[in-house]
Amino acid sequence: MRTPLVAANWKMNGSREFAEQFLAALDLEGVTAEVVVCPPFPYLAQVAEKVRGAVLGAQNLSKETSGAFTGEVSAAMLRDFDVRYVIVGHSERRSLYGEGDELVADKFFAAQREGLTPILCVGETLQEREAGQALSVIARQLQAVTGRASEDELQRVVIAYEPVWAIGTGKTASPEQAQEVHHFIREQLGAKGSGIRLLYGGSVKSGNAAELFAQPDIDGALVGGASLDADEFGKICRTAA
Ligand code: 13P
Repeated sequence: MRTPLVAANWKMNGSREFAEQFLAALDLEGVTAEVVVCPPFPYLAQVAEKVRGAVLGAQNLSKETSGAFTGEVSAAMLRDFDVRYVIVGHSERRSLYGEGDELVADKFFAAQREGLTPILCVGETLQEREAGQALSVIARQLQAVTGRASEDELQRVVIAYEPVWAIGTGKTASPEQAQEVHHFIREQLGAKGSGIRLLYGGSVKSGNAAELFAQPDIDGALVGGASLDADEFGKICRTAA
């Protein structure tokens, strides 16, 4: 039995005041899904202290453990703030900051070494989908991590399918399109696949969450824009039962 998971990725949005108001307004009463809030680094402590009914996630980490890496944040530092989950391989990191499969895998294992659960993001661009390459791109992105992971390491992972063309565009993959890819991902994961939670991400809102969550291989969502509205995010969490 996979417990549904809904994660809020605030991206580079928010302020102290925003976090204060969001946490005061977020009502997770009766929510059975596991809920994760991933604020920008400076607000981790504030969210850790005030959040009720959700756990803390981060949006990025360094592959290094410590030392002369100006501007970087290590897995151990995140753990110091009770961070449980960390997003790796988000398409914005891949495309805007040049993070390739190898670096994403290094970050994945850096997180796991400190006991954090990576939320590994995979997904194709519109161009790749139109060229019929969606599944091969996703297989390559997965393989970069699974090819280096032991059976045990593959237990502690959440995977998010985020088609790049659906992120922040208002264009969601249809439930059938998303299910097809989720099913493919589960197959690629082999014997361990049935226990791994697979999230969908890309313009998830309270209005489309139910039909996505109704798909057999969709175990929750990684939510961007709609996670900046406590009421809307709470509704999405309530939908994932
Ligand atoms: P949107 O929900 O804003 O499309 O963002 C999705 C996403 O990138 C979550 O990580």
